[in-house]
Amino acid sequence: MTVLVTGGTGTLGRPTVAALRAQRHEVAVLSRKPGAGHRVANLSSADGVDEALDGVRTVVHCATTRFRDIGQTEVLIDAAERAGVEHLVFVSIVGVDDVPYFYYRDKVASEQELIASDLPLTILRATQFHDFVAGFLAPQRRLPLLLVPELPVQPIAVEDVADRLAEIVAGPPLGRAEDIGGPQVLTVLEAARVWQRAHGTQRRMLPVPIPGGMGAAFRAGRHTTGLPGYGRRTFAEYAADHAAAAH
Ligand SMILES: NC(=O)c1ccc[n+]([C@@H]2O[C@H](COP(=O)([O-])OP(=O)(O)OC[C@H]3O[C@@H](n4cnc5c(N)ncnc54)[C@H](OP(=O)(O)O)[C@@H]3O)[C@@H](O)[C@H]2O)c1
Repeated sequence: MTVLVTGGTGTLGRPTVAALRAQRHEVAVLSRKPGAGHRVANLSSADGVDEALDGVRTVVHCATTRFRDIGQTEVLIDAAERAGVEHLVFVSIVGVDDVPYFYYRDKVASEQELIASDLPLTILRATQFHDFVAGFLAPQRRLPLLLVPELPVQPIAVEDVADRLAEIVAGPPLGRAEDIGGPQVLTVLEAARVWQRAHGTQRRMLPVPIPGGMGAAFRAGRHTTGLPGYGRRTFAEYAADHAAAAH
């Protein structure tokens, strides 16, 4: 029986597909675009979603708009119930119910809809991906200053999250799995130093405070798991690989 990965073309989805295939699962990718192993469907319009779930026993739900996902989650739940899916694995974010941020509120709504459904379920919350932290820094390469949000992060490699997802797929539904985070907690300023060292740059860094309740929750580390983290690959290793690939 097939494991369907929604968002299997994305940052986390790609290594997840690879980890599942390495475990000899038959894997299909739900994507809006045609491609090898793809089942073309759109979770916003629901087009093709029932067909994409044909013969699927397990779904790993990694698709996101990075903005508002609840509608897509509802479309997937309805179709998965009709298809008799036996395990739906949902990727969420550590601290979504503690940090007042609009995307996190939407994640909580998705978690609640899934819990209220009839689907056997695992919710896995992970901390920020290395790629997400790099997403603050890489686009600023032409600015004279590096603007750095003032908050701690516990970044995790998507490969480490993918390995955990593959482990979860191989076992029974867990309800809420234990949260996972990266191997270190560092400030984004420290991460930016690591990033600059790896890329051979020395730009001045300007810390940018995050205001309000959201900033307070982030500063309190509500989006971290504490140490030791689950992930093994450090941000420095990720930055070194990123720099090598860029040169
Ligand atoms: N970024 C982080 O630091 C972080 C941390 C913890 C958890 N997470 C969670 O991890 C999950 C994966 O995040 P990511 O960063 O890997 O996302 P991403 O790289 O932005 O990938 C998003 C994926 O969603 C798919 N998608 C978007 N709209 C769709 C639609 N209407 N119908 C079908 N597919 C659609 C895209 O597929 P196509 O373009 O091929 O259609 C794409 O593969 C998300 O749930 C996110 O909240 C992220």
